[in-house]
Amino acid sequence: MNKKKGLFISFEGPEASGKSSQILLLQKYLTKKKIPFITTREPGGTKLAESLRNLILKKKSDINIDEEILMLMAARSHHINNVIKPSLDKGSLVISDRFADSTFVYQGYVNNFGIQKTKSLHKNILNNFLPHKTFLFNLSTSKIIARLKNRKSKNKYDKLERNFHDQVNRGYELISKNKRFIKIDASKSISSINKKIISTINLLI
Ligand code: TMP
Repeated sequence: MNKKKGLFISFEGPEASGKSSQILLLQKYLTKKKIPFITTREPGGTKLAESLRNLILKKKSDINIDEEILMLMAARSHHINNVIKPSLDKGSLVISDRFADSTFVYQGYVNNFGIQKTKSLHKNILNNFLPHKTFLFNLSTSKIIARLKNRKSKNKYDKLERNFHDQVNRGYELISKNKRFIKIDASKSISSINKKIISTINLLI
């Protein structure tokens, strides 16, 4: 991995699917094995992008869908140019908690901006920059809601409406029909998911 360009991996999935906990476990493993890596997240990853995140995910806001998309693209551009690409150039493994697929699903599909329209903006503005591989966590709506009930709501998208999570799941199903995606059954045990992720990463680096 070191001598060539690095490897860019994203974690995607609906609310409460366990991505962030799995990223922490992976971080521990990579540290132990002395594999160079960075972890980051979207929206966010740079100071500017984190400020945009606060505006985008605020529960009460008057930002419309066009404005939200443009803010996400601006945040992503800054993240790619200042964090992701420089790390990949150093030969590092880059792990991002969410990336462009979240925009295709949440804004493109669920909020009706249009998946194709979102993808074409991504192509035009961000040169279609995408992860090498994406772990996609699948979890049924009932399980999502059961897990969210034990959490304090943090943003405008972790609400408890069944229809919203059904739509998110459907969106991921629609956009994940290619080889970039590695599907994870998020209802499985934390340790078995961790094993699957580690063995996949070891095959890639
Ligand atoms: P999370 O970091 O807890 O997963 O929350 C981030 C939220 O932001 C999640 O509800 C999905 C949403 N989101 C979008 O709507 N569009 C995007 O492009 C990204 C990256 C996230």
